[in-house]
Amino acid sequence: MEKTFLMVKPDGVQRNLIGEIVSRFESKGFTLVGGKLMQISQELAEQHYGEHKERPFFGELVDFITSGPVFAMVWEGENVISTARLMMGATNPKESAPGTIRGDFAVTVGKNIIHGSDSPESAVREIGLFFKEEELVSYDKSITSWIN
Ligand code: PPS
Repeated sequence: MEKTFLMVKPDGVQRNLIGEIVSRFESKGFTLVGGKLMQISQELAEQHYGEHKERPFFGELVDFITSGPVFAMVWEGENVISTARLMMGATNPKESAPGTIRGDFAVTVGKNIIHGSDSPESAVREIGLFFKEEELVSYDKSITSWIN
């Protein structure tokens, strides 16, 4: 089953949107297999956004993502990588449709609430950067015997 890395950015945490965002992916039918509130170090931020190193906003991006806690998550499900990107909306909130997370909650290009892996390769890389194997839980929601 496909997995993706999603992260509520510091602006989303500050605006109390963790629950809203988790709820959207749960309601859609995806399964949360890992999650933690954490403070990203400068080193991890530079690794995570390494592909944007040469872009003019790189410094701003690293400063922002390390400015406060983030809620890092791994979600599992059919086509979860591309579907999560659709649910997030366009990177620039000016272009993100109403009904998407950024379309509903964001205004400014840098402060766009959520990050999501953009390809299977990024998902594997980003999950590996943020989570240890033992922090991910595999379970089957169709089995009801564990709800007692
Ligand atoms: S994408 O989604 O990767 O195609 O978007 P991209 O335009 O390549 O942007 C990569 C990340 O950089 C953030 N970004 C910015 N931050 C600050 N200032 C400016 N001007 C800016 N432009 C883009 C954008 O939100 C992407 O962050 P993530 O966390 O990957 O969504």
